Amino acid sequence: MAVVAAVRVAATELAAFGAEVAGCTKCRLAEGRTQVVFGVGDPTADLMFVGEAPGFHEDQQGKPFVGQAGKLLDKLLAGIGLERDQVYVANVLKCRPPGNRDPQPDEIEACEGHLFRQISLIEPKVVATLGNFATKLLSGKPTGITRVHGAEQEATLGGRRVLLYPLYHPAAALYTPAMLKVLEADFARLPELLGRTAEQPTPTPALVAVAPAPAVQLGLF
Ligand code: URA
Repeated sequence: MAVVAAVRVAATELAAFGAEVAGCTKCRLAEGRTQVVFGVGDPTADLMFVGEAPGFHEDQQGKPFVGQAGKLLDKLLAGIGLERDQVYVANVLKCRPPGNRDPQPDEIEACEGHLFRQISLIEPKVVATLGNFATKLLSGKPTGITRVHGAEQEATLGGRRVLLYPLYHPAAALYTPAMLKVLEADFARLPELLGRTAEQPTPTPALVAVAPAPAVQLGLF
């Protein structure tokens, strides 16, 4: 019963935060969006994916990864016996950049607090970053995805110890068979990573929802 109640609290808090973010005007992307794309999935998921930013279809439908890259993500998940509603999927940016251009440093800085709060509410064990933008932001390092994909690292995100697991972005793998093979192989390690338990720091209120140094200050983007 206690577990059911905890799930309900997590779902309620995340939904309340999503409602708050739906009205966000922290950056210029608010002007051109159809809607904020907050994230979808299990609010208590052990596995969370973080992509880059909504594209045309995501902006229209209000859900991340609903296009071709999303279909590939679903296929990769099925390959390890998971469905979309058993994980949580979000993006670094919650609003679509015009013409699907790259996220700008000030947009990432404005939006990153939303992502860190999501992580602190969901409390995932493994955060899989899809592509360069999510990987650089959440690792706090400028090293690109080609060098770090498939290499898990411990990180403190949203006040929790998590395993950060960088992966190639599914959109990049769509038309590059060699990259798809690597992505599939990296994906295949997820069940093993989920079986590990990271040691949690003793919680102190001051640590909760504290983000790493802003990416822009670190000179990541
Ligand atoms: N690519 C992303 O990074 N995120 C989406 O939601 C869709 C495509």
